[in-house]
Amino acid sequence: MYVCICEAVTERQVREAARQGLRSVRALKERLGVASQCAKCARCAQQILRECALCAEEAMGTPPTASRVTGQEAVCT
Ligand code: FES
Repeated sequence: MYVCICEAVTERQVREAARQGLRSVRALKERLGVASQCAKCARCAQQILRECALCAEEAMGTPPTASRVTGQEAVCT
């Protein structure tokens, strides 16, 4: 799925960037161009970053955060 249509950036690319340590839309913008045009993708990209951070927390065995408890996940509309 494309996260950023303007720059043709996919969800897979965003997840890979998160896996490599990127934690902000600003960092995604610098590396991949996300949110550098119309910026309609910024919210979706942020959600994916949050989701990836939660997965990393889970992998490290840290307790779930509030958003994890409420079951929020990246759903980009
Ligand atoms: S959709 Fe990402 S900048 Fe337009």
